[in-house]
Amino acid sequence: MNIDFRDKNVFVMGGTSGINLGVADAFAESGARVAVASRSREKVDAAVDRLRRHDGEVSGYVADVRDESAVGEALGSAHEALGPLDVLVSGAAGNFPAPALGMSPNGFKAVVEIDLQGSFNVLRAAFPTLARPGAAVINISAPQAFVPMELQAHVCAAKAGVDMLTRVLAMEWGREGVRVNSVVPGPIADTEGMRRLAPSEKLTTAVRESVPLGRLGSAREVASTIMFLASPFANYVTGAVIPVDGGWSLGGASRMSAALSDAFAQQAGG
Ligand code: NAP
Ligand code: COA
Repeated sequence: MNIDFRDKNVFVMGGTSGINLGVADAFAESGARVAVASRSREKVDAAVDRLRRHDGEVSGYVADVRDESAVGEALGSAHEALGPLDVLVSGAAGNFPAPALGMSPNGFKAVVEIDLQGSFNVLRAAFPTLARPGAAVINISAPQAFVPMELQAHVCAAKAGVDMLTRVLAMEWGREGVRVNSVVPGPIADTEGMRRLAPSEKLTTAVRESVPLGRLGSAREVASTIMFLASPFANYVTGAVIPVDGGWSLGGASRMSAALSDAFAQQAGG
């Protein structure tokens, strides 16, 4: 399959590290004009530098997805600089492992505001900047959206909401020619998400062994599915929630819930 993104405009919210930066990098390598945004000016500048090695047009914006007007400004500036957006990837997220009783209301709220309200803010502000018809929106979800996991009440609630946003907006925006899908990464190597959820070698090994394909995934593998969804090969795909997880959500993620919870309790107990 040869997918060409030359002359396409791609915006990746939260695209300055980890999986999302890998996604931005894959689009830049395929010839797209790429814009990334996140909270930290340092991370934005570093990501822009890295993406420029592909010689394409790259821009970066500072915005917190919880700040509706900053999000609007970032998307508006990208629209002005590049023209209508062909692809929007919305992947800003936060996570920390904590039992519900060890999580303050503000801790729960912080994650829900970044992952869920933030996704709403981004999609809502992006709509006028999208190429219509033809644009593809891809939300980054997580197995926690449909696999309940201990220590993850905030993420489970937020990402389940993100997948529902995907489905509702796929219905509302379908007639405008805008497709909306979710991609659900499983455990991805060398990411902040994995460092937080499986902070020891022992836990990382246990996670790996709980994946049917027997290994962690890579950001490139997540990017491949996102690029498929953004391409004409997926012209009739909308409202889909697609795991890219080596089969982890079939059972392994559920089994790991207790192991992660035990490890956390042992660590907390010293
Ligand atoms: P990461 O490197 O921490 O990526 C998160 C990105 O979001 C960063 O660019 C961060 O940059 C940005 N961000 C965080 N809060 C933000 C806010 N309030 N406003 C704007 N940007 C914000 O983590 P990752 O592990 O690669 O995760 C990336 C995505 O994949 C997330 O949606 C996550 O839920 C999902 N996921 C990851 C895994 C995994 O194995 N890692 C598994 C399933 C799903 P700043 O700090 O500069 O804001
Ligand atoms: N355990 C329990 N509560 C925690 C916590 C932890 N490990 N880490 C943060 N919190 C709580 C804080 O105590 C605070 O609650 P309080 O005001 O009642 O004390 C609340 O969460 C908000 O923390 P704060 O640091 O002010 O939020 P923030 O908006 O600056 O950061 C986070 C948001 C907490 C999600 C932060 O971890 C973050 O920025 N993460 C982005 C990177 C990331 O998580 N990557 C993985 C993506 S899957």
